[in-house]
Amino acid sequence: MSDESTSMNADERITVRNLLHGEGSPFELAEDARSGLASTPKTLPPKYLYDASGSDLFERITEQPEYYQTLTELEILRRIAPLIVDRVRPTALVEFGSGSASKTRVLLDEMRRAGRLEGYGMLDVSESASRAAAAALIQAYPRLEVECVIADFEQPQPLPFPGKRRLLAFLGSTIGNFEVEGAQAFLRGPAERMHDDDAFLIGFDLVKDIAVLERAYNDAAGVTEAFNKNLLSVLNRELGADFNPGGFDHLAFYNEAEARIEMHLVANRPQHVTVIDLDMIVEFAAGESLRTELSHKYTRRSVEALLEAGGLALDLWETDPNGKFALGLARRR
Ligand code: SAH
Ligand code: TRP
Repeated sequence: MSDESTSMNADERITVRNLLHGEGSPFELAEDARSGLASTPKTLPPKYLYDASGSDLFERITEQPEYYQTLTELEILRRIAPLIVDRVRPTALVEFGSGSASKTRVLLDEMRRAGRLEGYGMLDVSESASRAAAAALIQAYPRLEVECVIADFEQPQPLPFPGKRRLLAFLGSTIGNFEVEGAQAFLRGPAERMHDDDAFLIGFDLVKDIAVLERAYNDAAGVTEAFNKNLLSVLNRELGADFNPGGFDHLAFYNEAEARIEMHLVANRPQHVTVIDLDMIVEFAAGESLRTELSHKYTRRSVEALLEAGGLALDLWETDPNGKFALGLARRR
């Protein structure tokens, strides 16, 4: 077969750029832990949940029966991928927080069917998840060029494939994991870098029955609990801390006033934790919590307001029949 792909070495189709630990990188666990553990209430940025085991645990969360988001988003994606590809006519897909990139394949398949698939850019903090996903993708798509950017998307990053018509994607309602102002600030990054023809597809988990929401973050198998507690292993390993995971309980509840799930680790007895690398002793009173994650829930109106603050406007809005989850297609304003 004189297929072009035979002359393309698989490795040559993957580019990996790690921007995390360079000069001025804000991905500084030590600095973030120093300020987060000293503040009241105690809090840590969620990006540190995703080391190699955290990324694996997240994949298992998406398979839990209580966690409706992944399958619901996939179902909407399957239905609207032809419409999106037809409307945007992208030759490159650029995804933020791509993780295992499994849902992404619905979009890549549709771009291939349209004869337009050239590039896939993935931006994620997890190098292990990104490399594994990229290796699988070049097998499945023999002509695809994959650009992995290992970086913190809270910092504005250059977008891969500037010369191509791009569909940007931010799936899994990961946008909900920012503070409200953080989500607006995040959107302004791509909004400033997108061309007028580019479009941005974003997944939003919607406001719904509180019991359903709370169950999704308290799965019976305890995978979310393990994901949450994995943060303590990250701190122990990376900063020489001596957190005892048994001293903390997983807590995830819906904060109705803020329309968000909050995930915490709550000290079940008073304890002090030594963090050698920070030369710091952290005291926890019984019942005191460390907040590890937020997950905002949306309505169409709150999405429109958020996009507007981020310099974007809604072009298309699609939900599942039960209104659990939505995909919004946004354009530059
Ligand atoms: N898109 C997948 C994964 C969502 S989980 C899905 O929809 O199922 C969130 C992903 O974002 C993880 O892969 C995690 O590693 C990544 N992530 C979290 N915080 C990040 C940050 N600040 N910068 C870059 N990637 C981040
Ligand atoms: N974006 C996902 C969400 O907010 C991330 C996630 C799923 C998550 N389960 C979690 C984050 C549990 C923290 C804890 O739903």
